[in-house]
Amino acid sequence: MAERTLAIIKPDALKSRYAGKILQRIDEAGFTIRAMRLLNLSKKEAEGFYAVHRERPFFASLTTFMSSGPVIVMALEAPDAVKKWRTLMGATDPAKADAGTLRKEFGASIENNATHGSDAPETATFELGYFFTGMELAR
Ligand code: CMP
Repeated sequence: MAERTLAIIKPDALKSRYAGKILQRIDEAGFTIRAMRLLNLSKKEAEGFYAVHRERPFFASLTTFMSSGPVIVMALEAPDAVKKWRTLMGATDPAKADAGTLRKEFGASIENNATHGSDAPETATFELGYFFTGMELAR
């Protein structure tokens, strides 16, 4: 059964002009892009997205970073999409990510780590709904 996950190309990757390379890797891995948008998140919008992390020491810095420039948000579809996208991204910290993963290749630090992905199917439902309307996801 096809599953969907929310993927983000973060501000650091867009600034470094890695967006095209990351999109190519998404295509080559066999994901179907069901919805996609370029956004400039406000600090408040970034805080709403990462609300589960609001008690973490890195919350303020993370949400400032995520609102520092454009991001690309996508609904990616594939069998086991949540796990498949997390595997392609690699570990949160690029220094610990396996060779060949997106974060190893395009990430610079645990915060400037190039991409985001939902961590579970239930999280994906919330995160997809945060950025896309029911109509956009009804394809
Ligand atoms: P992401 O997958 O977008 O989910 C939460 C983000 O918080 C994570 O990627 C990192 O970019 C960021 N972050 C910053 N510092 C830390 C940290 N110490 N541990 C985990 N995540 C962190």
